[in-house]
Amino acid sequence: MDQKWKRQPVTVIIIITLCFCTFGSTQRLCTVPAGPVSVPENSTADLQVVKISSGSDVTLNVVVNPEEKFYLKGKALMVKKELDYEALPSRAALVVWVQCSRPGSKSVNESVEVLVENINDNPPNFAQNNYVLEVNELTPVNSSVGLIEATDADSEPLFYRLESTMDKYFRLENINTPKLLVKSVIDYDVVQKISLILHVQDTFNGSASNEPFFTSVATITVHIKDVDNRPPWFQPCLRTNLGLAKLCVSTGYRGKVNLTEKEEGPLTLEPGPVFAKDGDKNRSEQISYRILRGNDGNLFQIDEDTGNISMTKAADIVGPITLTVMASQVTNRDQFAVTQVTFDVTKKSRNPPQFEKERYEGFIYSNSIPESMILRDRSSNRPFRVRARDEDFAGGVNPDVKYEVQYSSYVNVTSDGFVVLKRVVKTESFVLQLRAVDTTTGEFGTAALSVQVIPADAMPSPSNVGYRAGDMALLGLVMAALLVLCLIVIGFLISRLWKGHSSGDKICEKIITVHSLMKAEVTAETVRKSY
Ligand SMILES: *[C@@H]1O[C@H](CO)[C@@H](O)[C@H](O)[C@H]1NC(C)=O
Ligand SMILES: *[C@@H]1O[C@H](CO)[C@@H](O)[C@H](O)[C@H]1NC(C)=O
Ligand SMILES: *[C@@H]1O[C@H](CO)[C@@H](O)[C@H](O)[C@H]1NC(C)=O
Ligand SMILES: *[C@@H]1O[C@H](CO)[C@@H](O)[C@H](O)[C@H]1NC(C)=O
Ligand SMILES: *[C@@H]1O[C@H](CO)[C@@H](O)[C@H](O)[C@H]1NC(C)=O
Repeated sequence: MDQKWKRQPVTVIIIITLCFCTFGSTQRLCTVPAGPVSVPENSTADLQVVKISSGSDVTLNVVVNPEEKFYLKGKALMVKKELDYEALPSRAALVVWVQCSRPGSKSVNESVEVLVENINDNPPNFAQNNYVLEVNELTPVNSSVGLIEATDADSEPLFYRLESTMDKYFRLENINTPKLLVKSVIDYDVVQKISLILHVQDTFNGSASNEPFFTSVATITVHIKDVDNRPPWFQPCLRTNLGLAKLCVSTGYRGKVNLTEKEEGPLTLEPGPVFAKDGDKNRSEQISYRILRGNDGNLFQIDEDTGNISMTKAADIVGPITLTVMASQVTNRDQFAVTQVTFDVTKKSRNPPQFEKERYEGFIYSNSIPESMILRDRSSNRPFRVRARDEDFAGGVNPDVKYEVQYSSYVNVTSDGFVVLKRVVKTESFVLQLRAVDTTTGEFGTAALSVQVIPADAMPSPSNVGYRAGDMALLGLVMAALLVLCLIVIGFLISRLWKGHSSGDKICEKIITVHSLMKAEVTAETVRKSY
């Protein structure tokens, strides 16, 4: 198809016209073979075009010699120089006149038709070795970003091919049209520069034929431009992808202010100062900040340029204040982001939590098992308990106070202030420090607790001392034995009744006995539960 078209010789017909003599003589001085003669361009010089036949007394002369290309060698018309198809001034026609003359006769001019074949003797050529293109990121698929054509003196069409490791981004419109089209959307964050190599060839499949063919190469460097497609991102933020879009989400900022106190200068925030930066990596547009909502009574102000927030006056209500803060690009307000800044307004602590006493004393039995409570005194089983007061609070109870034990591995303290054994004690006494910490301010009070270990044999009677696990196990065994006994008695009674060996009265007596036994068991059970 194209190939064939290409191969077909384009011809220039050089017509050498023949003029007959004015006498109308029927005798011809010379004869030229009929029909055109083909001469390939770029063939070696001194090629014979045609042989002119004539009498031996006839003289031949080239009278019109276009480009001075032809000469006569005896009776042969020769090409003196190579014929370059591309260099011929007019590809339509050249006229060469050959004059035949004989003394005594009127001279005549003869014509020869010559076809000059255009052969593929020129390579395709790019105007530049390297082309530089600028392409916006996110250019839609199938958009054209440039046409890079080569020229070839011989013929069209040319055949193009793109070679690149990155050719997932670009393709050619088709093999004959070197229009560079976007193949997939380019993200500046992923790629900033793409290098391509464009090959051109003047024959579709040159190496498969024996014809000469030429190739040429140009490099294309595509610089990707970061377009303003992303808004400012508050920092720090968590990156997520939503399809092709990239987002970075801030979790907001937190700060603290004291009730009825105006802090001077920028407020310190967590996780850092209010700060946003352009989501477009390479643009870094200028950003300005504003408080959009939540600034009742204009308590706060934001520095438009830095984002620093400061107070204009003191807060007079306890509780959180949430500001909605916007960061927008100065030159393009449509690119903006919003976040929240929450301030906790807290009543200033004037007093740390304080234990009611500086020193406490508690007791524990040497055989107490883990999770037993430290006792208040020797003679009772009432548990020991501490309490810390905070004068900042009406009633002295700060709900944020937490108790801690320091310097002891024997005990821990519950949130209610009870001290609980963690492991069996193997000493006569131990001391520890208790701490009451206000978790909102970090303030704390301390107290010392010394615990006396009472030998197990000095244990008071059960009425005074609580039951312990060992006692309970023993009681359970006794109860189980009683139950078995009852069942045996009932079984015995029923068997007697069955046999009719016993009177009704006797049975009643026995049942009452069993009943009282059961009652004893229930009482024991109640004692156990009350423990
Ligand atoms: C044809 O001519 C060109 C110059 O125009 C030359 O470079 C080339 O070698 C020639 N080819 C042949 C086959 O003669
Ligand atoms: C791009 O062009 C190709 C070929 O013409 C077509 O198949 C494809 O659907 C086009 N893609 C888009 C996104 O327009
Ligand atoms: C609040 O008061 C405490 C205790 O005086 C002080 O350490 C802190 O800096 C104050 N905070 C503010 C934001 O004023
Ligand atoms: C005030 O803003 C600047 C610029 O963003 C920042 O470097 C500085 O840490 C901020 N100061 C405070 C106290 O947040
Ligand atoms: C002590 O008890 C508290 C709860 O009251 C618990 O959070 C803490 O982990 C305990 N500490 C130890 C060392 O067991």
